[in-house]
Amino acid sequence: MERRIDLYEELMREVESVLDGERDPITWMASLSCLIKQKLGFFWVGFYRLVDGDLLIGPYQGTLGCIRIGLNKGVCGTAAAKQQTILVPDVHKFAGHIACDARSESEIVVPVFDGERRLRAVLDVDSDRLDDFSPVDQHYLEQLVARMKDVEWTKAS
Ligand code: SME
Repeated sequence: MERRIDLYEELMREVESVLDGERDPITWMASLSCLIKQKLGFFWVGFYRLVDGDLLIGPYQGTLGCIRIGLNKGVCGTAAAKQQTILVPDVHKFAGHIACDARSESEIVVPVFDGERRLRAVLDVDSDRLDDFSPVDQHYLEQLVARMKDVEWTKAS
């Protein structure tokens, strides 16, 4: 876990330098997906945007993601409805989990809010290893998406 903390710390610095001053949500979601995937090596990293009450696939890195997820459906829809981060150590034991790729074994979903704490998207990170996420991942991923509170969300629509 020490190593992973170091990687997240490096990642935070990279995000600061690469995205400093940028306000476009697609730019942020695309770049964060890439930086997280490249730095940590997770199986699938990406965003679902909240559009007209559903979660619609946004920028991501990995195999084909499910296109549309309803609120309360799957891990993503549950995290969005509850507006809280959900860690799933074993996706096979999460009732209603949506398997976009059978190789996914564990998952963390983090809600993304704007500056007025309105839900705008969720960040979904999947691992092909069981029990791959801990409060360390939750802490850093929440810190990363908190950087997006000042982006101009209306530009995504
Ligand atoms: N597993 C997610 C669906 C999204 S994919 O993993 C990319 C879920 O249950 O919501």
